[in-house]
Amino acid sequence: MGLGLDSSAYLLEAQRYLPDSAFRLALLAFINIPVIAVVLNVLRQLLLPRNPSSPPEVFHLIPFVGSAPGYGNDPIAFLESCRKKHGDVFTFTLLGRKMTVALGSAGNNFVLGGKVAYLSAEDAYTHLTTPVFGKDVVYDCPNEKLMEQKKFIKFGLSMDNMRAYVGMIENEVSRFLRKEPSFRIFQMNDINEWGQFDVLKVTQEITILTASRTLQGKEVRANMDATFAQLFTDLDGGFTPLNFMFPNLPLESYRKRDRAQKKMAEFYINIVKARKEGTSMNDEPDMISALMGQTYRNGTQLPDHEIAHIMIALLMAGQHTSSATAAWALLHLADKPDVAEELYQEQIEQFSNPDGSLRLPTYEELKSLPILDSVIRETLRMHPPIHSIIRYVRDDFVVPGTLSAPSKDSQYVVPKGHYVLASPAVSQVDKMLWLQSEEWIPSRWTDPEGQAQKAFKQYSDENGEKIDYGFGAVSKGTESPYQPFGAGRHRCIGEQFAYLQLGIVISTVVRSIEMRIPGGVPPPNYHVCFDRLTSIRNTNPSVDHDYTPKAASDDHISP
Ligand code: HEM
Repeated sequence: MGLGLDSSAYLLEAQRYLPDSAFRLALLAFINIPVIAVVLNVLRQLLLPRNPSSPPEVFHLIPFVGSAPGYGNDPIAFLESCRKKHGDVFTFTLLGRKMTVALGSAGNNFVLGGKVAYLSAEDAYTHLTTPVFGKDVVYDCPNEKLMEQKKFIKFGLSMDNMRAYVGMIENEVSRFLRKEPSFRIFQMNDINEWGQFDVLKVTQEITILTASRTLQGKEVRANMDATFAQLFTDLDGGFTPLNFMFPNLPLESYRKRDRAQKKMAEFYINIVKARKEGTSMNDEPDMISALMGQTYRNGTQLPDHEIAHIMIALLMAGQHTSSATAAWALLHLADKPDVAEELYQEQIEQFSNPDGSLRLPTYEELKSLPILDSVIRETLRMHPPIHSIIRYVRDDFVVPGTLSAPSKDSQYVVPKGHYVLASPAVSQVDKMLWLQSEEWIPSRWTDPEGQAQKAFKQYSDENGEKIDYGFGAVSKGTESPYQPFGAGRHRCIGEQFAYLQLGIVISTVVRSIEMRIPGGVPPPNYHVCFDRLTSIRNTNPSVDHDYTPKAASDDHISP
């Protein structure tokens, strides 16, 4: 163990005043502090009687660090193995934080349906999100204010806007395929050669281009190739597990995050100002125009800086989630060319023009394509980009009897200051609920009698119990074993937009190229936040593909 220079100097100074043997003893004790801490921690867990109202604790060696390595390496495997040992409710230590996990449908309901007085998302996330989004929005404000902000955002996601976004997204994806160098064989229309592309890099670029062309607005899209992309990268560097554990460290990545946040906020504020002054060239529907002029219930207008910070929040919320989902979908389609072919045939049947070319779907048509829908749903089932949903416990919280019931007269209590964690990702691959849960089988979603349909009915906004938390009625969905967009008051409002974006991206790619991945779909790498929490192990996963535009030729070449 290394001692810092200051500590050694202090110890040498101390030696002058202590008898030699006492000094040796003190030095030994000091060096052995970590060992002693580990031993005491182990003895505490093995010997001290457990409080019957505390959920079982996951055994760990090192205090403070706790189960961070196990959870960090593979959260799903970690949670599943703890579940086998302890049942649906247990507590583990994560870098000094006590996390009480509640699994299964009842666990999801307990965490996602919990009352704000007891369970708080803002107290759990604000230290990570506020330095990135900025002040006064999302988790840097009371929950009622967030609910109003979600209502404002929904104006930018109206049906009319969604209809307008279809063509814009298709346009961006097609242009990307035509211009991106890794698609050069496709651009040359060479049907005999296979090329490669880095699937995550491509979906990240397509996602930011399509989001900026639609929600973010013309000004953002126009700046995407220059300053904006760098600002985005620096800001994104503030969304790592290190930032989650330590909100502020004297590191360059933190300084870059703070500088980028300021500049990006100024960028949006200037757009708002220009639009107010009538000097903007923008003539299309987007989120900024939807947010401008919104008024809180107390009569206050949504200030410019809040519009800017909401725009940053939306950019970050949609980027990693959608790009990771698109990447997984393309990888699975490359692995299962028969499904890709079904998808392609669905496009041909629905959208063929008399001259053999394919026309653009309308927003309504896009929503009623069973195979495309199943591909997206199945990808989100196996690879939900957010695998753990966390809340801070504001007051001692009794775990409902159905979930814990350690004995007839006592129930588990999660104390104030702990965190609770739900993992829809665990229920979505639960072997007890899903047949061949670890297999990517889109057709499970078209079986009218299957578990998938049942889960979706409980979750979907068209069915099930509805609640209005302040941003319009949404299905409660907290008990469904399928919750890729969360549930309850913090449920995602970007779901419809994500489906639209993913639908157009996937169908445009499938219309244009044929894909193969000889080594099979790589396992996830959970070492980094959001997309990376769910992302592809190899940072440079390549997909072999035939770039033949399918509408032009039916000769699909195998590698
Ligand atoms: C919330 C997933 C895309 C905006 C959430 C939550 C999940 C989620 C699981 C709940 C978080 C929690 O309860 O703590 C996804 C997935 C997406 C996606 C899987 C794409 C595949 C988007 C997009 C936008 C967006 C495109 C913006 C247009 C939001 C917002 C919230 C949210 C504003 C609400 C946060 C809250 O109330 O606490 N999302 N999201 N998301 N998402 Fe998404």
